[in-house]
Amino acid sequence: MENPFKFGTIVEEDYFTDRVEEVAFICQFINSANHLILISPRRFGKSSVVEKAVKKSGRKHITINLQQVTSVSDLSAKLLREFLKTHPLERVRHLITHFRIIPTLTTNPVTGSIDVSFQPSADATSTIEDVLMLIENTHSNDDRIIIVLDEFQEILDISPGLDRKLRAIMQRQQHINYILLGSQESMMTEIFEDKKSPFYHFGELMRLKKLPRDDFYRYLSERLSVCFPDTSDDLANRILDYTICHPYYTQQLAANVWQVGMLQPELENPVGKAISNIVTTHSLDYERLWIKMNRTKKWILQRMATEKPLQTGEYKTSTIYSSLKNLQKDGFVIYSDKYEIEDPFFKKWIADSI
Ligand SMILES: Nc1ncnc2c1ncn2[C@@H]1O[C@H](COP(=O)(O)OP(=O)(O)O)[C@@H](O)[C@H]1O
Ligand SMILES: [Mg+2]
Repeated sequence: MENPFKFGTIVEEDYFTDRVEEVAFICQFINSANHLILISPRRFGKSSVVEKAVKKSGRKHITINLQQVTSVSDLSAKLLREFLKTHPLERVRHLITHFRIIPTLTTNPVTGSIDVSFQPSADATSTIEDVLMLIENTHSNDDRIIIVLDEFQEILDISPGLDRKLRAIMQRQQHINYILLGSQESMMTEIFEDKKSPFYHFGELMRLKKLPRDDFYRYLSERLSVCFPDTSDDLANRILDYTICHPYYTQQLAANVWQVGMLQPELENPVGKAISNIVTTHSLDYERLWIKMNRTKKWILQRMATEKPLQTGEYKTSTIYSSLKNLQKDGFVIYSDKYEIEDPFFKKWIADSI
């Protein structure tokens, strides 16, 4: 029987729960001429919720994950490749021949899709401008396209000044709704909230929260009942207590509990067993992360892992605060209602090794 839980990829259909209001909001929002910015810590479900909304809208759309982009030419090539998946080449060929740098297009014999590449050049920004204006010019007010740029904070890393250049191009466009997603709270806030940033107040800023407990509870207990007909409600509650409703870690733990139930149905505490399985599997990675932390960070994480207060006089408040900010920037700590260690299994590993 297939595991009914899934983690690590964008989830759709059977693996997707709730987010009804968010999907409705995104759909309604992209009907306007405005752009949307979606921020949350990693693995909260941004990519999944946006994919769902964009598909539901029935509009043409292009998604690029900037984490996979290596240069400006590569970004232009990826945008054009995705564009050509929904726009027949015959109709736009003449427009591409006007590009300042002509791309190489080859048909992939396996997939039938068109591969695109641009010669790397000193004037790579003209390629991005040509591609984005091609997309703009093949659409209209009644037929706007959606461009999703995932992990948008990477823009600052791809090439210096790319943010300014992009903003200037986008300024001249009316037929594209941009949805910009990002995981690094501090960088994303800097990009969209700092007056000096070219993307200052570019669009509506939306923050994605964890999944609501009731809904996630129903989702888990329904699926677990196949393996655990008598205890699924209790298991669902224990999983959610442990993961504090974090979408990714909840699915990860549930998938492991399911696995334990299938292989060792006689075990009394499948949640405990699944947790220790996960911690063991990742212990090498945890160790590698741990040895790179400085002493202050180690101390903070140990206190947090054992639910102890940070204000003890051991470190100055300002030191604690700046280390917390740093840990948050690197994704080890997140702030929902309070600061917490992002990964509940790393948290357990830390607590166990004190
Ligand atoms: N609506 C949802 N319902 C159930 N699980 C979800 C949902 N959204 C996300 N998840 C879980 O979280 C994981 C990460 O989702 P993803 O969309 O990749 O997050 P992000 O883009 O914020 O990093 C998914 O693989 C899935 O396990
Ligand atoms: Mg994502």
